[in-house]
Amino acid sequence: MAEVKIHHMTEPVSPVEPRGELVIRTIAMPADTNSNGDMFGGWLVSQMDLGGAIYARNVSRSRITTVAIDAMIFIHPVFVGDIVSCHAGLLKIGRTSIRIEVEAWAQRAKGGEHVLVTRGTFTYVSIDDAGRPQPVHRN
Ligand SMILES: CC(C)(COP(=O)(O)OP(=O)(O)OC[C@H]1O[C@@H](n2cnc3c(N)ncnc32)[C@H](O)[C@@H]1OP(=O)(O)O)[C@@H](O)C(=O)NCCC(=O)NCCS
Repeated sequence: MAEVKIHHMTEPVSPVEPRGELVIRTIAMPADTNSNGDMFGGWLVSQMDLGGAIYARNVSRSRITTVAIDAMIFIHPVFVGDIVSCHAGLLKIGRTSIRIEVEAWAQRAKGGEHVLVTRGTFTYVSIDDAGRPQPVHRN
């Protein structure tokens, strides 16, 4: 199996460039807008959760489930047509859990500027076939 590159997210948040590994890249579509015409926060959180899960699965090489989403900060709105990317890095591996910092960045459709729009901490638990917590296999 390929070796997993771990990005430790211990440094202060920099609004200048993304930290961590690129885990999701997509385009913000009109179907996911709120009544203002901007993107739903819930859509963005689900992208970040998926991105964090991809990262956690690569660390644990097991089934995982989300147990907690903390410290979500919505800094700027996302607009239709923006290219949204999620970047993930490891904060901590516990006994059965993995805590990951996820940043979401938007590349504006108008102007191409890269903006840190949201960040948060996502915790996943490694689970067995019955959905019970199991120790994380460290790679
Ligand atoms: C996740 C789940 C399997 C954990 O089961 P549990 O019996 O509560 O397990 P534990 O109490 O042993 O906790 C497991 C780990 O999660 C951590 N944890 C539990 N609650 C937490 C919380 N609120 N925040 C952060 N970590 C938490 C524990 O500290 C433990 O980590 P560690 O082993 O590294 O020390 C269970 O709660 C579950 O199935 N939840 C639903 C998950 C789900 O459906 N997610 C998708 C939402 S749509």
